Amino acid sequence: MPELLIGQTLTYAADPFDEGPGAARHDSRGGVLIDAGRIVATGPADRLRAAHPDARVQDYGQALISAGFVDAHVHYPQTGIIASWGKRLIDWLNTYTFPEESRFGDPAHAQAMAALCLDLMLAQGTTTLCSFCTIHTESVDALFAAARSRGMRVLAGKTCMDRNAPDGLRDSAQAAYDQSKALLERWHGVDRLGYVITPRFAPTSTPDQLAALGALWSEYPEVPMQTHLSEQREEIAWVAALFPGSRDYLDVYERFGLLGARGLYGHAIHLTDRERSRLREVGAALIHCPTSNAFIGSGLFDMAGLKSEGQRIGLATDIGGGSSFSMLRTMAAAYDIAQLRGHALHPAQLWWLATQGSARALGLDDRIGTLQPGMEADLVVIDLASTPLIAQRAARANDLWEALFPTIMMGDDRAVIATWVNGRKV
Ligand code: GUN
Ligand code: ZN
Repeated sequence: MPELLIGQTLTYAADPFDEGPGAARHDSRGGVLIDAGRIVATGPADRLRAAHPDARVQDYGQALISAGFVDAHVHYPQTGIIASWGKRLIDWLNTYTFPEESRFGDPAHAQAMAALCLDLMLAQGTTTLCSFCTIHTESVDALFAAARSRGMRVLAGKTCMDRNAPDGLRDSAQAAYDQSKALLERWHGVDRLGYVITPRFAPTSTPDQLAALGALWSEYPEVPMQTHLSEQREEIAWVAALFPGSRDYLDVYERFGLLGARGLYGHAIHLTDRERSRLREVGAALIHCPTSNAFIGSGLFDMAGLKSEGQRIGLATDIGGGSSFSMLRTMAAAYDIAQLRGHALHPAQLWWLATQGSARALGLDDRIGTLQPGMEADLVVIDLASTPLIAQRAARANDLWEALFPTIMMGDDRAVIATWVNGRKV
């Protein structure tokens, strides 16, 4: 039976970084008609109601109906070590991350953490995520099985490492190639799942392993590839020492066939001009992880500069380097970081980054990220007065953006009234 969701609707007809807030489409009494997992019509609620008297109506009143949030860079196996104190990137990996990731060869642990991570994401209104797993094939099977049983569109891949990681967390160039290929063949395109070729980052792969994964990507160019790029200064110096022949960090990836339009480069903070222009030329996607960048002390991503030069950018929590599962908290952190660089991101831009922007970065914007007929019905319903403090501020608002901004800056899962996945309320 078709369902008609009624409330304030917000979606985008264009990128608000290009067109300004006018790129948004807001209806203060709008409707989204969904059937068989798809959005089939949008428009004024009264008109849709009259045209579809058979539809079951869910009236959310003044709440905001949006495309579900898209979290473009997550490490689901780090759910258990979120908020671990006191380290910068390399020490944080060695002290907290690698010991926890070592446990994911146990299918029971992997299954439990995959279920926990996805349920926490859904509670925050996040309907799609793109996750790193661990080197264990079991960790990939566990996440895809959990996503499949929830009907979620999820991207993920086996995190490959063959050096500078502890015993039990290293594979080899050949094993990384063989296992990634087998997992890709098993999972890519099954239901709503997509495989992502995943070298962790340059320091934890030998040249042979990077080359093997570059070769795999050339066999499956339609599949995304995710990694990390220029997150911290110490990391960049380490890459320069490990790859003395390379011009810069990005050049390491390029030399091994790991630079392309379907490439997803997490963090991308301390970029040289050459790296920026090369990323722009190939049309790669940069993934901004603002709570993580503050929490691990990485630096201030140049959102305004990178967007104005035409880079493709997505937004992400980077669990568990990031300190929140909430894309609202993540938008707030992106706002703070842009302010520290002297630029105020508009709420229309922040919301776009968390929905269509991330969907575009992941190459999924023909399926998710907007409320257009034909798109998959992944939605979030947001209460714009979820706490007394937010409510009193929103009550003074003169327009949608002023009403939405307090929820962006101060909201969390208490603002999430409902999450719809594939046309079903979860
Ligand atoms: N660089 C390489 N691995 C990681 C990781 O797990 N988290 C973050 N934030 N950066 C990384
Ligand atoms: Zn990461």
